[in-house]
Amino acid sequence: MLLSARQAVKRFSPGTPNEVVAVNDISLELAKGEFLAIHGPSGGGKSTLLLMLGGLLRPDSGTIEINGRQPYTLSSEDRAALRATEIGFVFQQFHLIPYLTVIENVLAPGLAPRPAGKSPSRSELESRAAELVEKFGLKDRAGHKPGELSTGERQRTALARALIFAPPLLLADEPTGNLDDDNARIVLTAMKEYCAEGGGVLLVTHDVRASEYADRTLTIRRGQLQPQGVTV
Ligand SMILES: Nc1ncnc2c1ncn2[C@@H]1O[C@H](COP(=O)(O)OP(=O)(O)O)[C@@H](O)[C@H]1O
Ligand SMILES: [Mg+2]
Repeated sequence: MLLSARQAVKRFSPGTPNEVVAVNDISLELAKGEFLAIHGPSGGGKSTLLLMLGGLLRPDSGTIEINGRQPYTLSSEDRAALRATEIGFVFQQFHLIPYLTVIENVLAPGLAPRPAGKSPSRSELESRAAELVEKFGLKDRAGHKPGELSTGERQRTALARALIFAPPLLLADEPTGNLDDDNARIVLTAMKEYCAEGGGVLLVTHDVRASEYADRTLTIRRGQLQPQGVTV
């Protein structure tokens, strides 16, 4: 399995009157080549689940496994290395670096330390960045900064950045929430293609358009996955 969660639980403010069980006993699996969408309302636990799956937020209990390794049994350094080699992230708010151009943003992950032997050369990275920028229709914008881009262009830049190392797993949090239909289609089609090429994509969203592209859609509410085939 490319990614799995077993009985994952995450509480915020435990033991206080504000306690929230944001993720409540979630188990799921994502295979290589699969595009899984998790749909649910705001506050349902989507972002919390995604952060846990991505090695960014330790569950209170349960197990996460990314390509055969459990991120939360590793040192924080090894966990960061696992994230860097296995995962690309896309967020709703893009998290682009404002003073870098589109192409520099796409190349930015190449500046972070990576495990020995897992780094493509600078020229390989540059040619892949140019390819992604072209593929996502950003060639004319390559020298622009995020502040000069439309929302759709920013999200396409963020997607190109997430794919720069061709990670086995792409995790996306509301990547189309702010996008018009054309841009949503570009982003979702690119994700579908990424799966066809052997990647795995897990997207969490309240946007129903994603289900048209995903192989499988699960629903999360109040921190729990809903039984399949039932709409509540
Ligand atoms: N850092 C936090 N501290 C306290 N509560 C949080 C925190 N993050 C999320 N929550 C709560 O956990 C629940 C799930 O949040 P979240 O995972 O962000 O949902 P979604 O992404 O589906 O909108 C919500 O009730 C939210 O208020
Ligand atoms: Mg969220």
